[in-house]
Amino acid sequence: MYRQQIEAAKEHFAQILEAQLQRIERMQQDDSFIDYQKLDKIVIGIVGGDGIGPYIAGQAERILADLLAKQITAGKVELRKIEGLTIENRIARMQAIPDDVLTELRQCHVVLKGPTTTPDQSADMPNIESANVFMRRAFDLFANIRPVKVPELNIDWMFFRENTEGEYALGSQGLNVTPELAVDFKVTTTQGSRRIIRAAFEYAKLHGKTRVTVVTKANVVKTTDGKFLSIAREIAQDYPDIVCDDWYIDIMTAKLIDPSRRSEFQVMVMPNLYGDILTDEAAQIQGGVGTAGSANVGTKYAMFEAIHGSAPRMVAEGRAIYADPSSMIKASVMLLEHIGFNKEAEKLQMALDICSQFEQKVKLTGRSDGVTNEVYTDYILETVAQPDLLERYQEFLAKL
Ligand code: IPM
Ligand code: MG
Repeated sequence: MYRQQIEAAKEHFAQILEAQLQRIERMQQDDSFIDYQKLDKIVIGIVGGDGIGPYIAGQAERILADLLAKQITAGKVELRKIEGLTIENRIARMQAIPDDVLTELRQCHVVLKGPTTTPDQSADMPNIESANVFMRRAFDLFANIRPVKVPELNIDWMFFRENTEGEYALGSQGLNVTPELAVDFKVTTTQGSRRIIRAAFEYAKLHGKTRVTVVTKANVVKTTDGKFLSIAREIAQDYPDIVCDDWYIDIMTAKLIDPSRRSEFQVMVMPNLYGDILTDEAAQIQGGVGTAGSANVGTKYAMFEAIHGSAPRMVAEGRAIYADPSSMIKASVMLLEHIGFNKEAEKLQMALDICSQFEQKVKLTGRSDGVTNEVYTDYILETVAQPDLLERYQEFLAKL
């Protein structure tokens, strides 16, 4: 019974295994990080994306153009708009990222990307893989780094989400073995786990953090999560000054909303899907997914984006101009820091905190009773330009 289907499934599985073993070999090759400051010119790609994407990416672009004006004039930095990463074009070409767009992306050193729509298979849309997931894999952007900070609640979290493995690695290559039996795959490799866990510990060490928390479901998903957890325990040995604790994802989601516990967490590291879920929860605590930015970092390339989707509903209801650009502005802070413009990154972060958390002279609500994203961005630009920015920021902090 089912001999033919089982044989076909085995063949599919064999191909998957081959590709994953090749991926491991690639991971073992050159793992040194590029030094952006050594480049003659840094090309920053700006991708609008879908839905509210072009609106909020456009505002972030204004900020980058302002902060990097000198470097742009001197030819040290180029902001390069990349068109064509839209759901319409992707459907027309039936590609997660159309070839010509991919070629253009490859010619940049880093990219700031607005959200892109991901069709899900149950909707009436073709089966195209998420552009994010494709890009993370194509550029091997293994570390998804997502900060969440709420000073009033004493929350200062840094999430290190593994970005190329887990359920995502083969998310579009699952199998309907028979019309009744669907199987997806979860992939964890030693190399893939080591590099993200190492990145989390190195970040902790560099920033004087005293705790790294590993999040898995190793009690149930024993083989893959078990591997991740045991590698984390092994790597923790190299960092005797850092406490390494581990939690299961279910209780972790509860602890993030436990006021007596949550400020103890500092750096968290986890497989892909848990990181996807946990960072949305964390962002909500900070004020909504619209407030959180995200860095997708590999050794030779990096992409910076919002953590949320393209919000087609906001566009349909004519509210795109009211969409919160903070996520993309936060992503710009991370981009600036990543390519070595630390002073500019710090200034922008302070201005963002003042405008969004402390002073709040104007407010975004996502609707016409709040300001537009352009007005909000003007407010950030004015704040960033103030000569006493640091003093003002310190005053606000002192009042907490
Ligand atoms: C994110 C998003 C993506 C993900 C989607 C758009 C594929 O939710 O960046 O967290 O699941 O990783
Ligand atoms: Mg997500």
